Amino acid sequence: MAPPEDFVVTPYEVKGRIDYQRLRELFGTQDLTPELLARLHQVAGGDLPPLLSRGVYYSHRDLGLLLDLYQKGSPFFLYSGRGPSGPLHTSHLVSFDLCRWLQKTLGVSMYIQITDDEKYWARSGLTREQTAYWGMENLYDILALGFDPKRTHVFFDSKSIAALYPLAIRVARKIPYSTVKAVFGFEPSTNIGLVFYTALQTVPCFWPSWAEDRAVPCLIPCGIDQDPHFRVTRDIAEGLGYPKPSLIHSQMLPGLLGENAMSTTGDREDNALFLNDSPATVDRKVRGAFTGGRATVEEQRRLGATPEICSVWALWRTRFAKDDREFADVTRDCRSGALLCGDCKGRVLERIHAFYAAHAEARIKVQDWAESTIVTQAPKPI
Ligand code: TRP
Repeated sequence: MAPPEDFVVTPYEVKGRIDYQRLRELFGTQDLTPELLARLHQVAGGDLPPLLSRGVYYSHRDLGLLLDLYQKGSPFFLYSGRGPSGPLHTSHLVSFDLCRWLQKTLGVSMYIQITDDEKYWARSGLTREQTAYWGMENLYDILALGFDPKRTHVFFDSKSIAALYPLAIRVARKIPYSTVKAVFGFEPSTNIGLVFYTALQTVPCFWPSWAEDRAVPCLIPCGIDQDPHFRVTRDIAEGLGYPKPSLIHSQMLPGLLGENAMSTTGDREDNALFLNDSPATVDRKVRGAFTGGRATVEEQRRLGATPEICSVWALWRTRFAKDDREFADVTRDCRSGALLCGDCKGRVLERIHAFYAAHAEARIKVQDWAESTIVTQAPKPI
C-alpha cells in the first residue's frame, strides 16, 4: 500500500508540508506546461503576469480546450470567489489578480462569489453579522484591484439567493450525500448547511449558460484547495446539459512566519499582511518575517541565503517585483549573499506601502458602485 501523505488539502483543511506535484497527481489535475503558458501568451499578447511567469499557478483542468474554443470565437467567462471569514490578506489576491489581468487583456466577463453562508457554516467562531460584514469589506478590496464595473457580476450568497436558487435546486439533486462525504471528509456532526453548500459553489459555473440558453465556457482561477468542489461540478455538468468548467490552480503561499500554508493559520495575526493593516503594522510584520537568511551577516555574505524557503522572497515573487528582470536580480543577489535580509525587507516594504496607498484610494471609489454589481434576480423563473 502507498504510504499515507503527510499533508492534507481540502477546501476546509490545509495542513502539513504540501508536495505540490504529488497533490496534482492525487487530485488528477494536469500540469501547467511551458507549452500551455506559451499558448496563453500568444492568445493574450503582451507579457504574462508574474503569477503565471513565476510558477505560482502550476496546474489546470482543460485549459487547452478552453483556449481552443476561445480561438474559434467562443469567449469564456471568469469565475472565482471568496469565503469572507475576516479581512483579506495579500495572498488572497492571487486568484483575483489573474482574473483582473484576463478580464483586462481579453475583455471577458467576471463572476465573483462571496460565500457569507459557507463561512458561517464552516467556522463555529463567526457570527452571521461578521460573515456578512466581511463579505462587503472583502468585495470592496477585490473590486478595487481594477475590475470593470460593466463586466463584473457578484453573487453575494445571502443577497443573491433568489438568483442562484432555481439552478441550485437542479444541481443539488445530482449530488449524492456519499459524494460530498467522500470528497470533503464530512462527519455525521457536520451541519447540513455545508452538505448543501457545494451545490451553491457550482451554480456560478453554469449560470451564464442557463441565462443565455447556450454553452458558455467557464474558467476558474483558484487555489488548488478549491479543486474538490469543481471535481463534483465537472462530474455532474454534462448530466445537466452544461459545459464542464476549466480550472487553473495556484499553490498556497507561505505565511510570513514560514508555515507552509496560510489557510490553517488564520488565527495567527502576524503570519499575513492584511489589507487593513496600518503602515506601522506592515513594517513590524515584514521586519519580523521568516527568511531564508543565515545566522550571521558574515555567514550570509559567504554562503548566500535560500530564497525558496523565504517568506519575503514570496512577496517579491507574487506581486512586488516590478518585472521578471528585477525578480531575477533579487533572487540572484539573495542566493549569492550580496543582498542581506534587512536591506531586502526595506526594499520590499517601500513597494508594499506604495501598493497599500494606491489600493486605499481605489477602494474608496469602488464603494459607489460595488452594490450595483450584486446579482439579485434569476434570469428566468425556473
Ligand atoms: N469556497 C471558497 C472559499 O472558502 C469561496 C469560493 C466560492 C470560491 N466560489 C469560488 C473560490 C470559486 C474559488 C473559486 O474561500
